[in-house]
Formats: sequence, C-alpha cells, structure tokens
Amino acid sequence: MRPARVGANARSLHRHFHLLPAVDKYAVIGNPVAHSRSPQIHQAFARATGQTLSYERLLAPRDGFLATVEAFARSGGKGLNVTVPFKLEAFALAGTHSPRAKLSGAVNTLKRDGDGWFGDNTDGPGVVRDFTHNLGVALAARDILVLGAGGASRGIMSSLLAEHPRSLTVSNRTFAKAEAIAELFAPHGPIAAVPPDALAGRSFDIVINATSAGLADNTPPPWPASIVASGAFAYDMIYADTPTAFLVWAKAHGAERTADGLGMLLEQAAESFFIWRGVRPDTASAFPLLRPPGPG
Ligand code: ATR
Repeated sequence: MRPARVGANARSLHRHFHLLPAVDKYAVIGNPVAHSRSPQIHQAFARATGQTLSYERLLAPRDGFLATVEAFARSGGKGLNVTVPFKLEAFALAGTHSPRAKLSGAVNTLKRDGDGWFGDNTDGPGVVRDFTHNLGVALAARDILVLGAGGASRGIMSSLLAEHPRSLTVSNRTFAKAEAIAELFAPHGPIAAVPPDALAGRSFDIVINATSAGLADNTPPPWPASIVASGAFAYDMIYADTPTAFLVWAKAHGAERTADGLGMLLEQAAESFFIWRGVRPDTASAFPLLRPPGPG
C-alpha cells in the first residue's frame, strides 16, 4: 500500500472518529522553567481567540537544548518560546531569522518551518508596546537609559531605536559590554555607552533596568541616584508580585512613575502568538489573570 493512501485513511478515520489528536503543540523551553507563566498566558490567548492548541513547559538539561527541541519537533511541536539560558542556542539553531532577531543575536520565539526553525525575538516589540500602548508613554524624542548590557539589553535595543528616541544610553558595570552594544547598534540611531559613575548629575526621561540582578535591597546599584532624580519613568524588565528592588530604589530617589515587566511579558507573548497563529490576542483581558486587582 502506498504511504499516501495510508495517510488519507488515517485522516478520514480522524475526521469521523477523532482517534488522533490534531492539536498543534507549543511549549516554553528553559532551565529552570517551572515558574514560567507562559502556559497560563498562551492558554488564555487560545481561549480568547478560539484557537485550538496545547502549550506546556519543557525543561531541557543545560547541555541538552538541541536534543530536547528535536524530540519536541518529532512529537509534532509547532513552536517554542525560549527562555534563560537558551536564547543564544536558539539563535544558532534557527535556519532563518527575522531582521530584529538577527540584530540582537538572540531568539525567544521559534516557529517550525518545514524541517527547520524560523527564529524571532519578540522582547523588543513587547517592551515598546507596553510603553506606548499599556502605559501611554511615547518613546519618541525622549532620553532613554538602559542599565545592563547582557542578552536582555541587546534584545530590546533595535526596537527602542526604531521609536526614534532623542538619545539612547546604555550603561553597564562591565563597561566594555556596553561599548560593544553601542557600536553594534550605532547604525540604527543615537546610541552611546556611558560608565555608571560618569552618569553622576545626568538625568533621563526613562530608565529601564535590564540587568539580571534585580538589584537586591541590600546591594546599592552601581548607578548614581541622579539618573532618576528629576521625575524619570523607571521600568524594570523583571516582574514580581511586590515592587521590585530596583523600582523601590528608583521611587525613593525621585522617579515619578514606575512599572515592572509584567506588561512586557504579556506583550512579547502576544507577539509570539501572532507569529505562530496569525491572530493577535487582546492582552488587556489577560492582565487580571496574572495580577488580580488589589484592594483600592
Ligand atoms: P540577561 O540575558 O538576563 O541579560 P546576562 O547576559 O547574564 O543576562 O546579563 C546580565 C546583566 O546584568 C549584565 O549587564 C550584568 O552586568 P555585567 O556585564 O557587569 O556582569 C548585569 N548585572 C548582573 N548583576 C549585577 C549587579 N549586581 N549589579 C549591576 N549589574 C549586574
């Protein structure tokens, strides 16, 4: 019997008797991944848009990213969100990339494309949409400071520059890494690297914490308080149920408004969902799911 015939039979059996699950499979892959809120978010998006899909957590051993992705693909996996520490490996794995993923050198969204993967990075659009859409803060013509020069920082630079800020400054404890980022993105807009202590007396409209430290309460950040002192908007890419240590520090030193990364989390997820399914979910209705409104 020819294989095509077998397939046709299987399909018709499925149509009539629902013997085979026909649900498209997605997952978030990381290590650790147990606390990821992506399954909750994507399942809510699927319900809201009437899409049928499954979305799970996939824990990959630190040295087992490729093997885990391959097994997922063999089982019919259609797409992945990629989180710490695999965004660079995901970039290397993807055979084709969006321009923004190419620029950042990191991939947080993989979509099955024939026998390979298409790689994209939705962190940049996520943070921009959180500012411009959810928080009502335009980035155009503003002075923006980004703290940190790791993967998180690199991932948002091209999207920030695409909003035409007046200036984009990147500052990092290890200055050489900030310099490398400024050099890489210089063709795309007004970006400069400045060491932390050279920011004394400088002020900014928007300060984004893209360090991984979370700047624990007992560790004073290596940046001078002047960066937020004249009423800056302080934004932390980290999210938590209580105000993050960076936001507490920023508020105490004169920041006027603060926001953590929950909105960015939702927006980057919505962008991934759009890449996979061609439908953009409404993030506003997903907010209460993740952070129920508190008293008052
Ligand atoms: P991610 O992918 O989350 O960006 P990363 O690539 O390891 O993670 O980068 C971590 C960033 O947080 C770096 O900019 C790091 O500064 P260094 O390059 O000097 O290491 C920054 N970072 C981590 N802990 C920090 C701390 N306690 N104070 C200031 N910056 C810190």
